[in-house]
Amino acid sequence: MKKILIATEKPFAATAVNGIKKIFIEAGFETVLLENYTDPNDLIKAVADVDALIIRSDKASRQVIEAGKNLKIIVRAGAGYDNIDLAAATEKGIIAMNTPGQNSNAVAELTFGMLVFMARANFKGGSGTELKGKKFGIHAYGNVGKNVARIAKGFDMEVHVFDPFVSKETIEKDGVKGVDSVEELYTTCQYISLNIPATEKTKKSINFDLLSKMPKGATVINTARKEVIDEEGLKSFFEARPDFKYVSDIAPDCHKELLQFENRYFSTPKKQGAETSEANINAGLAAANQIVNFFKNGDKSFQVNK
Ligand code: 3PG
Repeated sequence: MKKILIATEKPFAATAVNGIKKIFIEAGFETVLLENYTDPNDLIKAVADVDALIIRSDKASRQVIEAGKNLKIIVRAGAGYDNIDLAAATEKGIIAMNTPGQNSNAVAELTFGMLVFMARANFKGGSGTELKGKKFGIHAYGNVGKNVARIAKGFDMEVHVFDPFVSKETIEKDGVKGVDSVEELYTTCQYISLNIPATEKTKKSINFDLLSKMPKGATVINTARKEVIDEEGLKSFFEARPDFKYVSDIAPDCHKELLQFENRYFSTPKKQGAETSEANINAGLAAANQIVNFFKNGDKSFQVNK
């Protein structure tokens, strides 16, 4: 009998867990649950005898992967798979997958929750600004970026998009404006939503120079990864530009140093974008179905370590 471990430092909603278990029962698989753990050694122990692993932002490090003696597949229930050591997985012949698009609406909705919070003086009663008619930049047009664009149009914002991998023509089919360069995006837009993955190229790419291009009233909303920010640049930019605001669902390492910029800086304590029962159900069930399809039919769709 195949044994599947669900290891979630930040657990799925109970309905999602029940749904995942049901899928595995029907497939004749056993489910093992490791929730709310804080010590990575617990994951290393739990993975020892399982055939498959479902994780969220949990780290599937080389150590975890090497400890999984029977491991054949790891599914990241979510979009970003920068938490999986892909080289280690590939070396061991383990398939790594994500579940693209399953939690993107949740992340996009939070983007606007945080944006309105910042634009309306942190809900403290002071006078704020409206979003209607303002220039809104979407940095990368994947599943989250597309949902962000849809909602931004509902706010009547002027939506500009840059994605080095998506042509302007494709972007403009959605009724938003494609721009030619990242510099143009930041020069044009007062509001920027970061929807880029954390890769060797994008890490620390949001730096002082790029931020300096933003017009007055600049606000950056980061629901992507803290690693894409050059934190030294971010701190200097907060000092240099008293109009600048930064809001994120993932605290930068310099979180405590930024707390002095009251009303201009906010971060949720834990990664929050995909924290809805709908997103948990979508991503969790997709992960379970992908595992069943892999074992029963050899289906490797969504493999990310090809
Ligand atoms: C993702 O990459 O899918 C999001 O960052 C959500 O991450 P989470 O599952 O840890 O909430």
